[in-house]
Amino acid sequence: MEHNEHIVERYERAWIYFGLGMILLFIVLIGYLMVANRGTIPIGAGRVDATQVRTQGDFANPRVEQVGNEFVVYAQAFSFGYLPSEIRVKAGRKVTFKVTSPDVQHGFQIERTNVNPQVIPGEIVQVSHTFNTPGEYRIICNEYCGIGHANMISKIIVEP
Ligand code: CUA
Repeated sequence: MEHNEHIVERYERAWIYFGLGMILLFIVLIGYLMVANRGTIPIGAGRVDATQVRTQGDFANPRVEQVGNEFVVYAQAFSFGYLPSEIRVKAGRKVTFKVTSPDVQHGFQIERTNVNPQVIPGEIVQVSHTFNTPGEYRIICNEYCGIGHANMISKIIVEP
């Protein structure tokens, strides 16, 4: 009988270690993903009056700004397109996108990256990405926004 209890104890201990190991693994994994995806996780960067997006402030002048070694893009996602209509940046440099919408909800998915924030009218969403490979990357709307949704596309040109 005593012999059996020892076996049970051994199994119990093994399962406790297994459980603790899994918890530790998940904590490490979450930490790793948070570091690896730093910047690409969309954050709220303030609010604007959606009715004023086209006429006032940073988004009335959609543009690519070079700030030191990095780029900051002020972009509008509207029915049915994006402004600026073409975004030109350089490979290997951090690009921070600040995006808002003057009308309805849109998407801002950049193909071949994990940049994919939801754009809500009056909310400024911010994501960063460093394009390591030069080329053309399309920006695609993946939130249904009306009749022109399927044609709501723009592009980013990443120069070497
Ligand atoms: Cu904009 Cu769908």
